[in-house]
Amino acid sequence: MFSANVGEGLELRLLLPGDALELKTVLQENAEHLERFAPLIAELRNGNRAEIFIRTALEYFGKGTEMNVAIVEHGRIVGGCALARLNSPRQDAEMGFWLDAQSTGRGLATMAVIGLTKLVFRHYPVYRIKARTAVANTASEAVVRRAGYLFEGTERASSLSLGQPIDMNLWSILATDIKD
Ligand SMILES: CC(C)(COP(=O)(O)OP(=O)(O)OC[C@H]1O[C@@H](n2cnc3c(N)ncnc32)[C@H](O)[C@@H]1OP(=O)(O)O)[C@@H](O)C(=O)NCCC(=O)NCCS
Repeated sequence: MFSANVGEGLELRLLLPGDALELKTVLQENAEHLERFAPLIAELRNGNRAEIFIRTALEYFGKGTEMNVAIVEHGRIVGGCALARLNSPRQDAEMGFWLDAQSTGRGLATMAVIGLTKLVFRHYPVYRIKARTAVANTASEAVVRRAGYLFEGTERASSLSLGQPIDMNLWSILATDIKD
């Protein structure tokens, strides 16, 4: 099973079928925190979606197309980090992340994004990783900035938040931007 340490007591690891209940519980506790800027993740709290998500994520990991990992602190799931389109012919993947509200403010998302970014450049045929943050999502913007992603521009009305179109900022990091 894939697992990597990215900080003191902080691990990125694949979600396994046995994690479904814990994931669902964290997402239920964070429904309000996640629904504005991470609605697809927030929805996984419903019904058997967490189970289906984990099963599908493992299948995609096996095919080398996506990587969905849990951010685990001292054995507890406190968030998630994902890379999509790892096998894009343009070598252009996309990063997403979230944290349990109670685990924010300590740099965990930044450490996870830095760790996963380096890992993907090392092990996958990826040259560019992009991240899209809602213009109003300053916490998320700060994470990608700290992780070394550069601002590229604003995509107008390119996503929906609570049913309303919103502008998204586009960020990227290239394999050549990583120094160590
Ligand atoms: C986006 C999100 C993950 C950011 O969480 P966060 O806790 O602000 O981010 P980090 O874990 O990197 O922590 C950064 C904070 O810890 C502080 N910090 C402490 N030690 C730190 C360290 N070693 N490294 C970096 N930051 C550190 C920073 O100063 C910052 O504090 P501040 O918020 O007071 O400025 C969180 O708000 C979230 O889950 N939001 C909902 C889902 C979402 O928007 N996802 C992104 C979609 S693109």
